[in-house]
Amino acid sequence: MGDVIRELGKRPLGDTGLEVSRLALGTVKFGRTEGLRYPRGFTIPEMGQLDQLLGLAADLGVNLLDTAPAYGDSEHKLGRLLASRRDQFMICTKVGEEFENGRSTFDFSPAHTRRSVERSLRRLRRDVLDIVLVHSDGRDEEIARTSGALETLDELRQAGTIRAYGMSTKAPSGARLALERTGVAMIAWNLDDDSHADVLEEARERGKGVLIKKALASGHRPDLDQAMGTIFQRFNPATVVIGTIDPEHLKANAAGVVRAVGR
Ligand SMILES: NC(=O)c1ccc[n+]([C@@H]2O[C@H](COP(=O)([O-])OP(=O)(O)OC[C@H]3O[C@@H](n4cnc5c(N)ncnc54)[C@H](OP(=O)(O)O)[C@@H]3O)[C@@H](O)[C@H]2O)c1
Repeated sequence: MGDVIRELGKRPLGDTGLEVSRLALGTVKFGRTEGLRYPRGFTIPEMGQLDQLLGLAADLGVNLLDTAPAYGDSEHKLGRLLASRRDQFMICTKVGEEFENGRSTFDFSPAHTRRSVERSLRRLRRDVLDIVLVHSDGRDEEIARTSGALETLDELRQAGTIRAYGMSTKAPSGARLALERTGVAMIAWNLDDDSHADVLEEARERGKGVLIKKALASGHRPDLDQAMGTIFQRFNPATVVIGTIDPEHLKANAAGVVRAVGR
């Protein structure tokens, strides 16, 4: 495991000043079972199992966890679990999407953005949030241009409440705009969906802060070596966020990233 830790390494997230491990852990499955597109149903692990998973992630050199208010009680659980692991992880959370009673609603207004960040601080038991992304509903450009969410996050960054912000986008044009405006975007790429290849190549050339999501097509294309090889050779993002609640998958994903980076 020592080799994996050394080799997983860290990279700057664009010009945010944050250094993130090449593999980040996605935590949708820590807190939510409904309305997901995974190939199989699953049971949320007990807190003890989640604690062990976080211990393994830290041992492997993972230093970033991805969560959101829309991931059920994922933020709340992370707040409890990280109380004894205060300095081991940075957290990326989101604003804009709420998921209640089996359905999503969206609010990108400045007032909601502030309330959501304050709630995340309480749930995650942190004084400062490392990364906050606008959780797009698909209207990426309209949200970036007119909602006021990005301006509000910029004010919160200047006030020291958050360290970095950006947008988790749905379309290439939205990803491009988010990178121009904020320097940070969470962008989907996998073996079934190459539609963001151009924007990812541009981001690489310009040294933008990219977090790749859905790298295994939400578990539908778990061809780890092929996916990681393409991601790191072609796009070289700061990090790839892979969701898992399975310790064996987490170990395999870390080893897969190390193999891809070393190629
Ligand atoms: N709009 C947004 O902001 C947004 C949207 C989607 C996702 N995300 C973030 O990105 C993360 C990843 O997205 P995702 O969960 O949709 O997609 P993903 O990472 O492509 O796939 C996760 C799925 O793949 C399975 N898996 C993980 N490692 C595996 C392995 N080595 N072999 C076989 N199966 C494996 C997981 O199941 P097991 O638990 O069984 O390993 C899980 O069901 C999420 O957790 C979330 O943090 C953000």
